[in-house]
Amino acid sequence: MADAYDLSVIVPTFNEEANIAAIIDAVNGVLSWSGIHGEVLVVDDDSRDRTIGIVQEIAGKRDNVRLIVRGEDHGLSQSVVEGFGAARSDILLVIDADFSHPPELIPRFYEAIRGGADIAIGSRYMQGGDIEDWPLARRLISLGATVFGRILFPEVTDPVSGFFAVRREVVSGAPLAPRGYKILMEVLGKGRWDSFTEIPFVFKDREEGQSKLRPDTVTDYLRQCAGIVRYSMTRRAGPVSREWEKIVRFGLVGSSGILVNMGLLYALTEVAGLYYLVSAAIAIELSIVNNFVWNDIWTFKSARDLRLGRNLQRFWSFQAVSMGGLVINVGILYLLADVAGVYYLIANLAGILIAFAWNYAANRHYTWRGA
Ligand code: GDD
Ligand code: MN
Repeated sequence: MADAYDLSVIVPTFNEEANIAAIIDAVNGVLSWSGIHGEVLVVDDDSRDRTIGIVQEIAGKRDNVRLIVRGEDHGLSQSVVEGFGAARSDILLVIDADFSHPPELIPRFYEAIRGGADIAIGSRYMQGGDIEDWPLARRLISLGATVFGRILFPEVTDPVSGFFAVRREVVSGAPLAPRGYKILMEVLGKGRWDSFTEIPFVFKDREEGQSKLRPDTVTDYLRQCAGIVRYSMTRRAGPVSREWEKIVRFGLVGSSGILVNMGLLYALTEVAGLYYLVSAAIAIELSIVNNFVWNDIWTFKSARDLRLGRNLQRFWSFQAVSMGGLVINVGILYLLADVAGVYYLIANLAGILIAFAWNYAANRHYTWRGA
């Protein structure tokens, strides 16, 4: 039965009487103009208002609309996971009922998965994405959650988005431990996936009804992050460890470069008798070579292409990124120490960290593209 439809649109609801009829209508409208044979699956947590009655009535008239009313273990994530299990297609999409997520983008998610992505994420934080009408406090909380999430998934700009689509294989059999609001994090952390795409969208705050965000959402979220970290420790091939293994290796290689640099600076100056700035230039260049070789055969070995031209191309790219990193490091040192008056050793540490982030990101995306 899992392929009775091409797409399952899962709409979790709790007290959405003001929006539910309109969102089902909007989703169905999009499905019909885009020619997607899709179903709408409303997963309700036993709403106290008229939501259930309204959906029942629509479901009585339209074959592709279904309602699940949950009696226990209430929660947004739990509801979404239940929707995954009940869906009758192999592409699962989640959208809020309150029009915060624009339904007209549904075909783009669908095409992204059809085109090969395992997960398609609606992002508020990439170019073209935005949030409208959120009070500052809400923005800050969300940004905090996002920053935290990005530590786990550095490649994903909006790992806590509620608007996303996944291929069924990603979640079927995955040990999802849904709690709280951030089901996407759980899917990213424990699902089986290789590739993802992000689709920018503008999040609009609801006009009808109220947000169901409660204070314990924050503790739930932290517990969830901890759970994903714990899970990743025992699973070296999991998505979190896959990225973090590269970051750690890149850091270790960088440290080896510091040793090479210092050793050469000493040897060339003291033993070979060169002027120390000349030694330094040679030491820097050779440490770049050292780092390149180790990153190439170890950190990013999956992206190696042994053709000579490609090797050289990677080397020049790494060299350019490293020079950029050097400029960033010294630039930040100067700005913080001279302009902002920060103690220079602390300023240098900040420079090193930011240069490291730059070096990693630029090399990951450019030099060893596809690693
Ligand atoms: N079944 C069920 N159970 N649905 C729920 C529950 C619940 O306990 N709580 C909320 N919902 C439904 C709402 O009816 C709505 O369709 C959707 O889930 C989002 O709920 P909101 O209360 O509108 O959430 P929000 O706007 O504060 O949060 C949004 O932004 C977050 C990212 O910052 C949502 O999009 C979240 O999914 C997203 O993570
Ligand atoms: Mn909302």
